Amino acid sequence: MQLPDEAITYHYQSLLVPLLEDWTPAAELRARNYLPPASLRDLLPRLLQVRSQVATERELRQIPVDLQPLDAGFIDLPQKMLEQYRKQVDASVLGKVLKLANKLRQEVDRVVILGIGGSYIGARALFEALRSSYHNELPTKDRPGNPRIYFEGYHFDNDSLQEFLDMLQLTCVDPEIREERWGAVVISKSGGTLETAAAYRAVRREMAEYYGPHSPKLRELVIPITGAKGKLRDLSLAEGFTDDQILTIPDDVGGRYSLLTPVGLIPAALMGLDVRALLLGAAAMTRTFLDEPFERNPVLQYAAVNYLMSTQCDKPVRVMSVWSRKLEAVGMWYDQLLSESLGKRSQGPTPITSVQTRDLHSRGQQHQDGTRDKTINNLVVKAPKHQPIMIGMMDRNEDELNAYNRKGFPDLLAAALRGTNQAYHDVARPTADLVLPSITEHTMGQLFQMLMLATVVEGRLLGINPYGQPGVEAYKRNMQALLKVQP
Ligand code: PA5
Repeated sequence: MQLPDEAITYHYQSLLVPLLEDWTPAAELRARNYLPPASLRDLLPRLLQVRSQVATERELRQIPVDLQPLDAGFIDLPQKMLEQYRKQVDASVLGKVLKLANKLRQEVDRVVILGIGGSYIGARALFEALRSSYHNELPTKDRPGNPRIYFEGYHFDNDSLQEFLDMLQLTCVDPEIREERWGAVVISKSGGTLETAAAYRAVRREMAEYYGPHSPKLRELVIPITGAKGKLRDLSLAEGFTDDQILTIPDDVGGRYSLLTPVGLIPAALMGLDVRALLLGAAAMTRTFLDEPFERNPVLQYAAVNYLMSTQCDKPVRVMSVWSRKLEAVGMWYDQLLSESLGKRSQGPTPITSVQTRDLHSRGQQHQDGTRDKTINNLVVKAPKHQPIMIGMMDRNEDELNAYNRKGFPDLLAAALRGTNQAYHDVARPTADLVLPSITEHTMGQLFQMLMLATVVEGRLLGINPYGQPGVEAYKRNMQALLKVQP
């Protein structure tokens, strides 16, 4: 059950053209750059029809050619996984996720997660949002049972991979001690992505050197996650993994929509997160999307407002302005989701992530004063997890902060947000707020599901298939051809 104050909400009224505003130069600019409320009203019938279409797509068994590819499995998956877990416990997918992750947690104090794109960024977003920003630097006793987490397999940067391997060699000397044992999760739906496959080779070589070339640890300390078929599955089977030790990414869930499959759930469970709360949050968002009217439906609101801003108000750039340093990777995840889903046939908004207040000192100038091509969505967290750090009184007041002695960091952030929104409004820069009551597994589950659903709705509104990413294949083809001919 979802408590009302746990629900995330979207506040877009501030970017609607104000009714009955007296003429001023600023009002004139708002009339030109904000969204006319009538456009939103006019879109409503089509929006509801798109919702029905997306709901129907979940049920299709035979996929018509014009809808292919169709990866709508992510929509109902959270609820299905929870139900299957209730009925089958350990034999369910979630049961298997929890069991494999717990086993690895008991064995090792460091885990490297290998993957790229949809097989990487979501797990990173969960890690940054829900674990301490200094998690890996904490002593083992202050991370009870939660291994240090690293991400690799998403680049071809020789030196950073070598530095990761060097770090393992320097810090892990005795494989008999849990604190000095490390393991790996390798994630690739296709099983053939070169960034991940090449890094996995390097990691396997390192493991063989550390644990011995025939050690059972080479299997016990690795979790492969992949599609039903492909090179990673073949390799894993050839190396002696049983089908039960390989987690499967469902066929009908696309890479960037796969966070709430083992792709994100194994890393989440390894981090010691409440995986069920994540799924509950996502399942609640699916219900909201399917059942609630526009006025209580953040998926429809977000999709409609942002679709209209880019297509009718000439705002092709979409800024996710993140008001918590801990949510920067959520912005990265959304960049990927939006780019690969909607950046097709010379269309689609251009996503940008901006982290506040850091980027007020860089991009802020452009957002306030630059080209009028942006819609700004603030991602705001209402309540911090920790007690406020207060400014307090100090004997030396040359910094003149004693005047704010009763203010804490949350007050500073709230003032910066209000001040920025006001400054943008004054010069007609359209801005809306996506509000999370707090950062928890439940709200993060809602947020990811909301943005995935909104992206699918927006794709259908644009007439763009939000699934598949044909454009990404071109560089892979060229790269593989070049690798074959180079000495
Ligand atoms: O959304 C997608 O499908 C892509 O971003 C993939 O996740 C990414 O290319 C990685 O692919 P794979 O999991 O097959 O290695």
